[in-house]
Amino acid sequence: MTDPVTELHECFLSAMRAAFGGALPEGASPSLAASKNPQFGDFQANAAMGLSKAMGKPPREIASAIAEQLKKDERFMAVSESPEVAGPGFINIRLKSAALSRALAALDGVALGIDRPNAGAVETVVVDLCGVNLAKQMHVGHLRATVIGDALARLWERLGHKVIRQNHFGDWGLPIAMVTAAVKRGVDRGEIDLGTLTLERLERLYRSSQRVCEADEKGLAAAVRFGLGPKAMAELEAQVGGAREAQASSRAALVALQSHDPAYVSVWKRICDITLASCFEICRRLHANVTAEATAGESVFAHELEGLVADLVERGVAVESEGALVVRLEEFGIKEPCLVRKTGGGFLYATTDLAAIRRRVQSFGADRVIYAVDARQSLHFRQVFAAARKAGYTRRSDGAEALLFHAAFGTVLGDDGTPFKTRSGENVRLSDLLDEAVARAEAAVKEKSPELSEVERRAIAEAVGTGAIKYADLSNDRVKDYVFSFDRMLAFEGNTGPYLQYALVRVRSIFRKAKEQFGIEESVFERSPPAMTIVAPEEKAVALLLLRYPGAVRAAAESCEPHRLCAYLYDLAGAFSSFFASCPVLQAEDEATRMSRLRLSRLVGRVLRDGLDVLGIVPLERM
Ligand code: ARG
Repeated sequence: MTDPVTELHECFLSAMRAAFGGALPEGASPSLAASKNPQFGDFQANAAMGLSKAMGKPPREIASAIAEQLKKDERFMAVSESPEVAGPGFINIRLKSAALSRALAALDGVALGIDRPNAGAVETVVVDLCGVNLAKQMHVGHLRATVIGDALARLWERLGHKVIRQNHFGDWGLPIAMVTAAVKRGVDRGEIDLGTLTLERLERLYRSSQRVCEADEKGLAAAVRFGLGPKAMAELEAQVGGAREAQASSRAALVALQSHDPAYVSVWKRICDITLASCFEICRRLHANVTAEATAGESVFAHELEGLVADLVERGVAVESEGALVVRLEEFGIKEPCLVRKTGGGFLYATTDLAAIRRRVQSFGADRVIYAVDARQSLHFRQVFAAARKAGYTRRSDGAEALLFHAAFGTVLGDDGTPFKTRSGENVRLSDLLDEAVARAEAAVKEKSPELSEVERRAIAEAVGTGAIKYADLSNDRVKDYVFSFDRMLAFEGNTGPYLQYALVRVRSIFRKAKEQFGIEESVFERSPPAMTIVAPEEKAVALLLLRYPGAVRAAAESCEPHRLCAYLYDLAGAFSSFFASCPVLQAEDEATRMSRLRLSRLVGRVLRDGLDVLGIVPLERM
């Protein structure tokens, strides 16, 4: 037994079936939960309340019948004391002390109770994450796509599945051609040196070329209508003319790129390299595993789009609508059709995503594709998922349907409740945020632990600062918006990254003292682990939480909600802190208790370390 809840749940189900047979309503659940009050036991089952209405019997009677069956179940009685019916019909369960020790010892194995699935049950999971855009710096909006996406990838990896990360890099389309054309002009005029070009300069070029392309056609029409005079007319005409020229040159650049014109391709490639080098560097700092191998830009699919749309038309999946091609989705309850080709013939963001799904499912063999993308793209993904299904692109070669899931996240807000921006209204650069968090963390570490060397302090500050930003992002309910606050996320108290890192540091420091004061080597706990005897209520609280770890990882992966694992780790750290405050470990009354508590503490440390690692947060030995 590693997870008593699962074990008890199964025993309850068979007891309910044995007690009521066919009279049991379908989907009846034991409703088993940890007890709020340890006086009444470790777990409480509320099944009888729900069943009472459906079965027309008083809940106490139902509870007693279930309890009687449980008492006859050897498997149940091996782990639990005799069940007790209480109040209107609760069933209280208290684990046997020996069973609890056994379960804890089993959890203390290499895998911490998370065993690899059988070969046949290993899933291929594609995680779409990061999704930066060409010639742009990573800003706070990419934080969530990167941090949540990477945590989801880690969660599925931790469960033993095969994970393929995909950074759907926005490197194709008219705006990209526009900036490529602008850079090429600069190079041709000798104003830009591709070798020393920076991302900052590229981003400025992007913005200025975008402005040039924005024709004030409406302004010109109004000027004509209101007869604004020759000077204003001339100015507006020149602006519109310039814009038309710039647009034409962007379109020419797109054609050149599409036909692999080396003069344009080499400039474009260089822009890609500059953008990605900065992206990978930030991901490395974020401790998020996003690499060149995991990057498949939109350009990768460019040559497939024509064939893909032809395939959709041929099979009647896409139809013409006002000169454009669309996939109708009424049968999926979606009013808005998915546009796959514009009237002028251009393809869209959605067309590329369809190609990406086809590749992920049919070439990579994905069982599941998870998209860590902003909630504001919800309609896009509903449309694309439905269109892909209609087109049969979600069917794998073995005939199974892949599961597509938009792990949508909310917006990062500033103090004023609007999307987080700099004072001048610009997007906040992710590198600036990380620098500031690390600087603040360094000041805090310096104050807390002045004895650390500078090198050590720097490394710790980097882990604490970036960990704080990541944890704040991961611990908030994924779909909700949250307010960005350095003060809150860097606090050493509360549900924060530093608090969890510090909880682990406390465990580690117990083991340094154990060695200094008692000569206890940690390897003892591997070689001949002492018995864990759970007596005090605080010990029990820690023990019961520990046993929930595998379930917490599983639940977070399956729901694609890392915040569930965060909440679990926070609870565990809190329970450990109460345990540590009321149960002496090194100063325990006897040797057996000391060793038992040391092993329990060590197990807490192992789970905290593993959990932080699954979230992509660096665990620390000291801070
Ligand atoms: N580059 C896109 C953006 O900035 C995000 C890409 C998300 N992934 C996808 N498969 N569409 O909005």
